[in-house]
Amino acid sequence: LGATLAAGVAAGLAASGCSTGAPPVRPRPAARPLAIPPLAPSSVDAGGRRVFGLTAAPGTSAFLDGLATPTWGYGGMPFGGPTLRARRGEEVVVRVTNRLPETTTTHWHGMTLPARMDGGPHQPIAPGETWEASWRVEQPAATLWYHPHPHGATERHVHRGLSGLFLVDDDVPVDLPDRYGVDDVPVVLTDRGLAPDGAFDEQHRNAVGLLGDTVLANGTVAPYLDVRTSRVRLRVLNASPARSYRLSVGAPVSLVGVDGGLLPAPRVVDDVLLTPGERAEIVVECAPGRRMVLRSLPDDLGAVNGVAAAAGGADSLDLLELRPADRLEASPPVPAVLSREAPLTEGSTVRRFVLANNRINGLAMDPTRVDEVVPVGATETWEFTNRHTLPHNIHVHDARLQVLDVPAAARAWKDTVAVAPGTTVRALVRVGPYADPEVPYMLHCHLLRHEDDGMMLQFLVVGPGQRPATTIAAGHDH
Ligand code: C2O
Ligand code: CU
Repeated sequence: LGATLAAGVAAGLAASGCSTGAPPVRPRPAARPLAIPPLAPSSVDAGGRRVFGLTAAPGTSAFLDGLATPTWGYGGMPFGGPTLRARRGEEVVVRVTNRLPETTTTHWHGMTLPARMDGGPHQPIAPGETWEASWRVEQPAATLWYHPHPHGATERHVHRGLSGLFLVDDDVPVDLPDRYGVDDVPVVLTDRGLAPDGAFDEQHRNAVGLLGDTVLANGTVAPYLDVRTSRVRLRVLNASPARSYRLSVGAPVSLVGVDGGLLPAPRVVDDVLLTPGERAEIVVECAPGRRMVLRSLPDDLGAVNGVAAAAGGADSLDLLELRPADRLEASPPVPAVLSREAPLTEGSTVRRFVLANNRINGLAMDPTRVDEVVPVGATETWEFTNRHTLPHNIHVHDARLQVLDVPAAARAWKDTVAVAPGTTVRALVRVGPYADPEVPYMLHCHLLRHEDDGMMLQFLVVGPGQRPATTIAAGHDH
């Protein structure tokens, strides 16, 4: 057996060291080609800015033959959204139009950007309105994403189908597969319960949030991917409201990137734990004609998902079948060095966050309250302790994180970290270069029901001499 070393280990969550080998699997015939989200069209304006338009609107999806499901999507897609893509150094403008029957927001998850552009609960977009976000993309290549973040309604908006990828490219050449949809393939994982009439099941039945027994990859049920190259890079996003996955293809893969970008060097792993909001980029070696299945392993996921076997937590789930052709185009080997970005060095300020009962430090989200004030550009040490029997994870807006207490080589760039029950995760947290004494960023559990329930705090990032607001004014940005 190769080493079991999941992104979860990089994230400080103990992985099950004892993989039990091949789990019993009830094969489910892969029925449909994996849909590839289209790249969002953009234009470059007179000022050289890359301009996207994105409309959120209701639609109808056909996940299963003969069944119509009312859904919400971006960019004309009934479910999901097109992939936005920009280069490091580019200024981007995204005009988001809300054609939904209620107020939403659009958050750029993983992006370092001014708080007013963040798309959190303080940047509401009323029905019929258009919100313009603009910023300079100034971070290394990464697989980021976007989704709604309206106060108290994030889970429902995401569950209806609103989410898409935002890929950042940079100019540092790395010889990884990079043909979008060919050998560099987005895999956005979500799970849904489907009622007999096709509607999404939005009933809460357990403490982690909405879990469904139908898993979709890019909105496709039981998908397969035709592979034409000897290596394929999968950019996997867990866009599920609550479900975690332990990804495996039944053979070691190269983990090359996580949330915030490429690892310093590839890590050969048997499986990768992905909690909601996290991403993993893996390179899978394919043999001609030999099919493989990307699955979520059962092992401890029943516990991770906080549900009994009956809810699907203890079964392995087939996510995507890979179907290599009989002749494969040779891909270059995975490079030994992927990124030379300097790791963070320990900061002086320590902040502690205790997670329990869907509260952080005993507090429920209050949109008017300032919970933390962080100096612009600072690197600090943040400690997250889960004193709960439920799994939680923590996503910090604007910042890039490195989890401490893991081998130096596993110090990947994160923005969302799993914090298993009874454990503490320490992370170096570097906030971005944008100061704003009035508009906060969010820090919250990315199990979206927990976020909606109030498991979220607000922090201001202030410059030297700036006096932070003592309360956050509602709707100041309108
Ligand atoms: Cu992916 Cu605050 O969210
Ligand atoms: Cu939580």
